[in-house]
Amino acid sequence: MNEKIFSRRKAIASMTAGGAGLALASFIGNSSAGARERSENMTMGQTETARAFRGQHQPKPLAFDPAKVKGLSEKLIKSHWENNYGGAVKALNAVEQRLSAMLADKDLPPYVYGDLKREELVRTGSVVLHEYYFANLGGDGKAGGKIQDLIKQWFGSYEQWEAEFKRTANALGGGSGWTILSYNVHTGEVHNYWAWDHMHNAPTSMPLLVLDMYEHAYHMDYGAAAAKYVDAFMQNVNWDEVNRRAEAAVKAGS
Ligand SMILES: [Fe+2]
Repeated sequence: MNEKIFSRRKAIASMTAGGAGLALASFIGNSSAGARERSENMTMGQTETARAFRGQHQPKPLAFDPAKVKGLSEKLIKSHWENNYGGAVKALNAVEQRLSAMLADKDLPPYVYGDLKREELVRTGSVVLHEYYFANLGGDGKAGGKIQDLIKQWFGSYEQWEAEFKRTANALGGGSGWTILSYNVHTGEVHNYWAWDHMHNAPTSMPLLVLDMYEHAYHMDYGAAAAKYVDAFMQNVNWDEVNRRAEAAVKAGS
């Protein structure tokens, strides 16, 4: 892995700088000095930046060497991480900081505010799903452990599950979206969900395995041959990570 490119420090610096100019006020910490400053600001009629709108999300570095992924080029993975995921982090920070600035504008029409609230949902979905996607890449593609049991319980066999997962993914070929193996903490069921965009998720479903089906995830290597990308992805699934998620999801639902 190229440490120069994926240096956390560098990434954080580059992705927080873009939205910095949008901040209305800087976040104030919990120190006594901070408390005094808050008090003074409130006295002066100023509003404090809400924690929800800090816009300080930081990119998570890749946990694997992108040069060693089978069937997906280092160039593709780096570009995806840096431009698409990185762009989503920057955008989410900018949206949150813009929302913060709008809190003070009491004359703002609700439909204008609504546009930004939609962006908040879109960008949050993109950031979270990309982080799940990259974290479940870089493995040997051999499933085992708890997830194997869950898959057999809900799909009969690994082969039947994999066929349905791939079929769901290929249904998104040539367009956009995500295919997500999920454990639903409300129903207690395991399903492969089709998601047309970053905002599509079955309520209360926790992602176990996430596959990015946006064209940017494969077009550089496979052109329009989405099914070949899906096959390559399956060879590199980090099932240890999927198992960690499965353990946590089942515990959360019990
Ligand atoms: Fe992506």
